[in-house]
Amino acid sequence: DGFPATRLFNQGYSYTYDDVIFLPHYIDFSTDSVQLNTKLSRNINLSIPCVASPMDTVTEASMAVSMAALGGIGIIHSNNTASEQSSLIRSAKSHRIPFASTDIPFLSPDDSISSASVFNNSPCVFITNDKNNKNLLGVVDKLTWESLPDKEARISSYMQKNVVTLPNTCNLKDVAGYLTKKEMDFVPLVSGEGEVIDVVSKWDVERINGFPKTSGFPSVGENGEFLVGASIGTREKDKERLEHVVKAGANVIVIDSSQGNSIYQIEMIKYVKKTFPNLDVIGGNVVTMYQAQNLIQAGVDGLRVGMGSGSICTTQEVCAVGRGQATAVYKVSSVAAQSGVPVIADGGISNSGHIVKALTLGASTVMMGSFLAGSTEAPGAYTNQGGERVKKYRGMGSLEAMRKGSDARYLGDTAKMKIAQGVVGAVADKGSVLKFIPYTMHAVKQGFQDLGASSLYSAHDLLRSGVLRLEVRTGAAQVEGGVHGLVSYEKKSF
Ligand code: XMP
Repeated sequence: DGFPATRLFNQGYSYTYDDVIFLPHYIDFSTDSVQLNTKLSRNINLSIPCVASPMDTVTEASMAVSMAALGGIGIIHSNNTASEQSSLIRSAKSHRIPFASTDIPFLSPDDSISSASVFNNSPCVFITNDKNNKNLLGVVDKLTWESLPDKEARISSYMQKNVVTLPNTCNLKDVAGYLTKKEMDFVPLVSGEGEVIDVVSKWDVERINGFPKTSGFPSVGENGEFLVGASIGTREKDKERLEHVVKAGANVIVIDSSQGNSIYQIEMIKYVKKTFPNLDVIGGNVVTMYQAQNLIQAGVDGLRVGMGSGSICTTQEVCAVGRGQATAVYKVSSVAAQSGVPVIADGGISNSGHIVKALTLGASTVMMGSFLAGSTEAPGAYTNQGGERVKKYRGMGSLEAMRKGSDARYLGDTAKMKIAQGVVGAVADKGSVLKFIPYTMHAVKQGFQDLGASSLYSAHDLLRSGVLRLEVRTGAAQVEGGVHGLVSYEKKSF
């Protein structure tokens, strides 16, 4: 019944996710037992298969922190100077878990606290003498301050001294265990130099534990810091950028190019591997087996797949090259798997079904732009557009983004004339990724359950061995598969 993938994808058609559909298989396990843990690249493990795209309207520090907290990862974009990108990486890595407030309040012992707004959503205010926030003298917790009769009193007269702190190398599990054991409401995390980096409260722990469970734990490195990726280009000056981002702590490098099979990229891959042999490097983008083989030979640890399938992309229209994303993911994954190189399905994800399809067709992770844009964590402010709260989302090949420097991705930085390969748009407010990604992952698990795949690895095996069967959907079948025949329907973004 149906077609095995090898037959379906070898008929000369370029299929997108919506063109194909899997036939259900056999269920002998619960949704919750589905494991979504995976690999971003040869040496980077993630507990959910989600990656935030290196775009300047998607991934800066806040997105990277939340994606890592969920068990995925964010790749900090490079449409900025090397030092701006490095400080975004540093800022993301200095956070332990998403903290409700971006600024931890610091005051001196001579100050007084006249209003609750000083707490800035933090459970406490930190008291230091030092402008670098080292040498913690004490804390004032909000509950103590609220019960204070004289709000004008100097902090030194009532602050709590001898504060217990934890090193910022502890992971969330350690901190949560400590708070429970000591029956404390919060604990500051300090660096080796004694600088207060963050504060974790029992409410933060509850908040994180209260999310619908994903398969695993936040993405943290051996030093307990969040894993963060960085994109770079293929120009000579990107070697300098590489030094900067590695120094700032980037855990993986993504070489950002719309057509990755080039002499420039191959040289850059070799350079990164030679200079930092222990750092994983992800190459791309590619859509064919030939492109993939070249980059694998050059030494990549991961491959990013997709050309023109992104929601803001016009590459296929402007340049007449690209490939339907379902076909591209299947074809590239089939060669990458032979070398143990994980594949990132980049672009074209607009619902959980697309994620199930990408992962089952051989990808190990999905990279998303528009799906994450418009969230609380995406850069930029919300604006009002026709009564709807929206955030800007733009292609990195749009003229507007290229004016800021991203033209190198489209090899247009040395050209006399810039040709747009993307557009500028807006995406409706979706709320926090901390809420909608766990929800989406649960839907993905249900998809895997219907396929009879209890993990990504088992889905890949079932596809390769021909157990999983697919078909192409006709136009009418696609209409039938969507909502139809109703007078009105409120469309949710996930
Ligand atoms: P989604 O569909 O998730 O796609 O919004 C995000 C991916 O699209 C790619 N990208 C572009 N492709 N012109 C293009 O042809 C552009 O201006 C552009 N900007 C981003 C990129 O791979 C991203 O991850």
